[in-house]
Amino acid sequence: MQVLADNLKHYRPPVLSPAKSQAVWYSPWTIKETPKGIYLYGDVGSGKTMLMDLFLDVVSGGKKHKNRVHFNAFMLDFHNKIHLWRQNPAAKKLGQDSAVDALVGDILRESPLLCFDEFQVTNIADAMLLGRLFNNLWSKGAVLVATSNRPPDDLYRGGIQRESFLPFIEKLKTNCIIHCLDSTIDYRLLNEKIRDIYYHGPKPKEHLDRIWDQLTECREGEPLVLQLLGRSLTIPVHFRGLARCSFEELCNQPLGPADFRIIAETFHTLILDDIPKLGPGVTRANEARRFITLIDELYNQKVKLVCSAACPPEDIFPREVDEKGKNEVSFGDEEIFAFNRVVSRLHEMQSKAYLESKHVLKM
Ligand SMILES: Nc1ncnc2c1ncn2[C@@H]1O[C@H](COP(=O)(O)OP(=O)(O)OP(=O)(O)O)[C@@H](O)[C@H]1O
Ligand SMILES: [Mg+2]
Repeated sequence: MQVLADNLKHYRPPVLSPAKSQAVWYSPWTIKETPKGIYLYGDVGSGKTMLMDLFLDVVSGGKKHKNRVHFNAFMLDFHNKIHLWRQNPAAKKLGQDSAVDALVGDILRESPLLCFDEFQVTNIADAMLLGRLFNNLWSKGAVLVATSNRPPDDLYRGGIQRESFLPFIEKLKTNCIIHCLDSTIDYRLLNEKIRDIYYHGPKPKEHLDRIWDQLTECREGEPLVLQLLGRSLTIPVHFRGLARCSFEELCNQPLGPADFRIIAETFHTLILDDIPKLGPGVTRANEARRFITLIDELYNQKVKLVCSAACPPEDIFPREVDEKGKNEVSFGDEEIFAFNRVVSRLHEMQSKAYLESKHVLKM
């Protein structure tokens, strides 16, 4: 990482035209050899994100780096931008390649260094777009630094039309140094914890009522309607950046990453009632998936979570073992990784350090 940080100091990125012209123009003769990026993978809590952020601090001298994003957020945003770009009647005739080309230009104008936290491919829309998008980025001299829970060869494993995705994996290996952060320690578990932030004792409602009263100085709170991509979501009670909802209200409704992101950007603290045990079996699979997305979004925005649950974090998700000794077979590998990640995060979210961290507000 230090070598890459040094190389980036001398790296002359492609010259791009101003945003107004839509078309991307760049001068190949200004590109010096593009340094290889880094793809860092390993188990939950092994320090990948921490290392990437240390690296970015060195590279950007402590300033906020606009191209450091959570990978899901980046893809969601990219799909939305393609959609918007296509609304333009002139653009319609040009097709998706032109949209990707123009948008890549905008990204690289910020910086040729792209830092993606939690690189993962879980749906066909992303899988099919990634090859085109990254071929374009790499051909224009982008440098990718990414963290992931999986080695490149395991990305999108078992996904529909995976053969079309394989060339991307090869390109990724060519353009990045692939490094496994081999650590048997989940550093999150070593953190000093604040008691009863994650509560699974008797009288959970009364416990959370008390915390609400402490945080609001006994104010009542009122509902808030959030506008989400043409729909609205009512948060039953909120008071100055603090929201209170039940698990059912958030995870048993047709909500997705964009909805949870708006919640995470709007509130610095969420009091969440009644997280149930989601296993054994897969009958609550959709709730389990939504809960993963919710926790990932809250964690990424450093939202403080105070909650009541039916059991400790380790027991929330299905952990049945089949006769071959594998985990719950009806969930994909990607989801089993995600269960472990969420459990690890739920531990960190009770730590003093996390509770003292600053809420990431919308840029
Ligand atoms: N070597 C280390 N020494 C001390 N603390 C560490 C170390 N590595 C990580 N940590 C701490 O452990 C916690 C988890 O680290 P981090 O978020 O970087 O893990 P991660 O590998 O990105 O996990 P995930 O796969 O869940 O995203 C953080 O609070 C971080 O500060
Ligand atoms: Mg991480």
